[in-house]
Amino acid sequence: MKTKILVTGGTGFIGSHTVVELQNAGFEVIAIDNLWNSNIEVLDGIEKISGIRPIFEKLDCNDKAGLEALFTKHSGIKGIIHFAASKAVGESVQNPLLYYRNNLVSLINLLDLMPKFGVEGIVFSSSCTVYGQPDELPVTENAPIKVAMSPYGNTKQICEEIIQDTVHSGVDYKSIILRYFNPIGSHPSVEIGELPNGVPQNLIPFVTQTAMGIREKLSVYGDDYNTHDGSCIRDYINVVDLAKAHVIAVNRLVEGKSKANVETFNLGTGVGLSVLDIIRTFEKVTGEKLNYQIVGRREGDIEKVWANPDYANNELGWTAKETVEDTLLSAWKWQLKLREKGIM
Ligand code: UD1
Repeated sequence: MKTKILVTGGTGFIGSHTVVELQNAGFEVIAIDNLWNSNIEVLDGIEKISGIRPIFEKLDCNDKAGLEALFTKHSGIKGIIHFAASKAVGESVQNPLLYYRNNLVSLINLLDLMPKFGVEGIVFSSSCTVYGQPDELPVTENAPIKVAMSPYGNTKQICEEIIQDTVHSGVDYKSIILRYFNPIGSHPSVEIGELPNGVPQNLIPFVTQTAMGIREKLSVYGDDYNTHDGSCIRDYINVVDLAKAHVIAVNRLVEGKSKANVETFNLGTGVGLSVLDIIRTFEKVTGEKLNYQIVGRREGDIEKVWANPDYANNELGWTAKETVEDTLLSAWKWQLKLREKGIM
């Protein structure tokens, strides 16, 4: 019998890629999503790639009774991968209670229900945002947590603490916290990818939409940072590589191979690239010319951050493999596909 895994936020960007990898690895997936920030058609893409349509229910993790009914209906769920969360930094500043409610209550509901239904582990989506501007680079998991720059960032920190406190209180389940750097790209089949709502806040969707002519110009937020070309540096990780790490993590939990009740891993490539590096590479691999302009700094931006992924590499046996060239090309092919389908 296949091991059952619940994926919350299963039609989202990282969630959908993870559902594919879980199904490819032989897991049975139950995916849920409230569809606020994703689309039911994503299931068609998942099915085209993996040949399997995951069980799906439209459900909000804040609906505890609904979750309880889900666990009862799909009995035997062994592990959870919890992606579902609100993630727009600016929106979180405008509407902090929405973020605290969505991101904290959904996690609390899941943790609360896990013992009753015998769920053995939960993988939690965290972010390198918890490190703020690290004192040392590349940043390791032992780097101090800095005061959050936004309510969104604060929810990630608080969720990590909620998991630590709950697991240490002696419950029967374990957890793996994954701190993502900057996930980008799309599945090589171009059946699934990133589909932001409205004007993109993140760099890559803005780059592809500018190249497509949907946005007139890309603003580069600052060229006066202390970096090789003055623009900010991030660690851009391919979304399929990232998805594969989740399969390893949840398998580690359900097979009882964790070395601690809560383990935390950085998921990055270990390479930092500037905004201008990304623009140049995108232009090179796609042959498209990007209309961009240097503007002032974006409030709250971190100057530079990239991962030390050694712990994940050694302990999980996982390494980010895709090149940034192939990853940017996949993002561009996805944009072309959206145009072909008349979506964007
Ligand atoms: C942001 C959040 C981070 C969150 C992540 C979720 C901030 C400060 N951080 O990460 O907490 O986990 O999104 O997706 O908001 N850039 C431009 N022009 C643009 C857009 C971005 O120059 O139009 C630059 C940014 O200044 C940054 C880089 O591109 O240097 C990456 O930006 P983005 O994709 O928004 O990610 P982060 O800021 O790293």
